[in-house]
Amino acid sequence: MCPGSFDPVTNGHVDAISRAAALYDELVVAVLVNPGKAGLFDVAERMALIGEAVSGLANVTVDSFDGLLVDWCRSHDVPVIVKGLRAVGDFEYELQMAQMNRELAGIETVFLPTAPHVGHLSSSLVKQIARFDGDVSGLVPPRVNDRLVQITGGRP
Ligand code: PNS
Repeated sequence: MCPGSFDPVTNGHVDAISRAAALYDELVVAVLVNPGKAGLFDVAERMALIGEAVSGLANVTVDSFDGLLVDWCRSHDVPVIVKGLRAVGDFEYELQMAQMNRELAGIETVFLPTAPHVGHLSSSLVKQIARFDGDVSGLVPPRVNDRLVQITGGRP
């Protein structure tokens, strides 16, 4: 499973999901709550936007969970968490979560290094740029761009 806040999904997420989907028979992308982040999109819309962005990947489904990641994995009998890793800045927190999830439930985390052309993308930066009417159309799937333009009143 590929967990995250996905608020909203970016081209970086889509890259990681596509590459994870090529490694496993089935992949579930799960929207989970990150207590450290306030959300712009509600969970239902985050799921819909992911679903649209990965609709071409036959072995990918989308789910959500309001609880511990390891509890979702246990109840779905999912043995592996896959996460994209951008740069050294991600590493400390991601390593900590991976070690904690393994200690809590014996669930392994596999890190996929992001492709260089999306390594600088983050949902937070995308939202910040959109809020100041910057053009994020090259950074996110088309429907996400449309919604950000609607929400922020930015330019098309
Ligand atoms: O996209 P993000 O914000 O980096 O994803 C972080 C996320 C949502 C995967 C993480 O916050 C998480 O697992 N949340 C669910 C609650 C949980 O299990 N917390 C303990 C993590 S060790």
